[in-house]
Amino acid sequence: MKDKILLLGSSGLLGSALNKALTGHAQVLTPSRFDLNLTDLDALETYIKAYKPSLIINAAGMVSAQQCEHNADQAFKLNTDLPAKLAQLSKAQGSTLVHFSCLDVYGDESKVRSLSSCTENTPTNPQNIYAESKLLGDNAVAEHAEDYLIFRLSGLYSKQDLSVKNERPPIVIGAPTSAEYVAVTVMRSLERVDRGVIRVHPGVYHLSTKGDACWQEFYREVAMLRQNRQLLINSPSLVTKDSRLSMDKVEDTFCLLVPSWRSQLTSIITDPKDFAKAVGQH
Ligand SMILES: NC(=O)c1ccc[n+]([C@@H]2O[C@H](COP(=O)([O-])OP(=O)(O)OC[C@H]3O[C@@H](n4cnc5c(N)ncnc54)[C@H](OP(=O)(O)O)[C@@H]3O)[C@@H](O)[C@H]2O)c1
Repeated sequence: MKDKILLLGSSGLLGSALNKALTGHAQVLTPSRFDLNLTDLDALETYIKAYKPSLIINAAGMVSAQQCEHNADQAFKLNTDLPAKLAQLSKAQGSTLVHFSCLDVYGDESKVRSLSSCTENTPTNPQNIYAESKLLGDNAVAEHAEDYLIFRLSGLYSKQDLSVKNERPPIVIGAPTSAEYVAVTVMRSLERVDRGVIRVHPGVYHLSTKGDACWQEFYREVAMLRQNRQLLINSPSLVTKDSRLSMDKVEDTFCLLVPSWRSQLTSIITDPKDFAKAVGQH
């Protein structure tokens, strides 16, 4: 593993899981927004030039689609300008950049749903400011960075918080994936790259569980696994769809066996201590 890691967005859903997965591995810098406001790109440059991290992980951004619509300027600063700057700085410093993107860049629900699975080559078609700002960020990383990985994720949840989220939209949004799974998978994969066990080309990789569910169905499953009748009543079932994100590329490249969202959730609830099992690697 790289000796000095800069983790941006370490207080967020994914960032917290990454921070935990990194514990004990290396020197990890986790500036909060009070230490380093990520809309201030000059301050970011000064910080990176001072600390010279060998690996930069960007888990920061504006993630709420609603917030992005209300504050488009801030959305483009965080989701586009920030990764673009990180790409330039990582190249200049000779460091690796890991960045996170989202399923939303493929756009239009019905178009994506009609595909049996959506690959990294599926044409993008962002439909809102969140998706558009994320896609521009991805493109900037691909254009300006040299040693980089972009992981495109589906809906995340944290194993620390499996209470019913009433604010979740009642639509199918992909394969629910635990932030801990993404964090552990990314860190173990980077370790294997460093040790020369696998060779990886810079590019975009999908990373979620397999299968597809709406949040209501997900929380019904949580309730069933916990035998919680109240949760079952509160979470109406909707139809399960086919998988929408193809995991072929990430499985082949990183020698992974990606689990289904259901089996991952089952291991988290029934065997939380043995979560490592849910991260299939061969
Ligand atoms: N959540 C999902 O379901 C999902 C799905 C697909 C892809 N992703 C992608 O995964 C990545 C992480 O998402 P997440 O859900 O973990 O996001 P999150 O929980 O909203 O966390 C965002 C992080 O960015 C930080 N941040 C925001 N504005 C900042 C600023 N001006 N200066 C410094 N820090 C700032 C936040 O700090 P504060 O705590 O101080 O606000 C927080 O640590 C994003 O790239 C997202 O697009 C997420």
